[in-house]
Amino acid sequence: RTVYVNGDYLPETEAKISIFDRGFLFADAVYEVTSVLNGKLIAFDGHAERLKRSLDELGMENPISTDDLLEVHRELVRLNDIDEGLIYLQISRGAASDRDFAFPDPDEVKPTVVLFTQSKPGLADTVKPMKVISIDDIRWGRRDIKTVQLLYPSMGKMMAKAAGADDAWMVENGYVTEGTSNNVYIVKDGKIITRALSNDILHGITRAAVLRYAQEAQMEVEERNFTIEEAQNADEAFFTSASAFVMPVVQIDDKVLGDGKPGRVALRLREIYLDESL
Ligand code: PDD
Repeated sequence: RTVYVNGDYLPETEAKISIFDRGFLFADAVYEVTSVLNGKLIAFDGHAERLKRSLDELGMENPISTDDLLEVHRELVRLNDIDEGLIYLQISRGAASDRDFAFPDPDEVKPTVVLFTQSKPGLADTVKPMKVISIDDIRWGRRDIKTVQLLYPSMGKMMAKAAGADDAWMVENGYVTEGTSNNVYIVKDGKIITRALSNDILHGITRAAVLRYAQEAQMEVEERNFTIEEAQNADEAFFTSASAFVMPVVQIDDKVLGDGKPGRVALRLREIYLDESL
């Protein structure tokens, strides 16, 4: 696999970053995941916009223009012959000369830019009826910034796995925030309900597209908080992310939703999303 590090395209085995990189030492880094279908980047502009915002919010200098970033994405798709898969991008504040909590002087330390691809043949064909568990959301308060602080979401996935489930929905002050790596929705009497945007959740690029398509298709959308209990009594549930698109949820903790099959609204939105993306 050929990867990109700070301006160079290299075999993955030759790519190197410093042990003093702040992404490694302090999780002082942001990331994006963009999917590729039929060799084409999905929603690149949205991901590039959000990346800029994440960098801004952390006072990190943007080391690469959106045009150059697009070029790197396209070049990696070409070099690695990606038909279906993902592109991972990470920008850290860079490698200071020592371990120090204070940010280094941006005139002396430049951000580290890393991109790599993951080939996932059949990515768009996989519809898995998902089982989720609920767990406390103990993450920090700026989940709108896409940082690489992913230890708790990783632990959440492991808790789900240990419980025989596929993912975990996180709950704060009684209300569902989001999944470990996705935005979540329920459907009741044809209405799509999802938490409103705030610092409590990541502003999903897939979420924005799916809500737009839902409204264009005259589906009713309500942005508000909901509890696990309300979700368990919903007609259906689903989640969205760049890598899973729209994925139906059929069980929440020990409660099976409806007839236990993927919901119609979720499947329809998935179809619309994939059609529009291709
Ligand atoms: N995760 N919420 C969280 C906590 C996420 O990590 C993600 C994305 C989303 C969905 O955002 P988007 O639609 O822009 O992908 C919501 C990516 C895919 C990941 O970590 O792999």
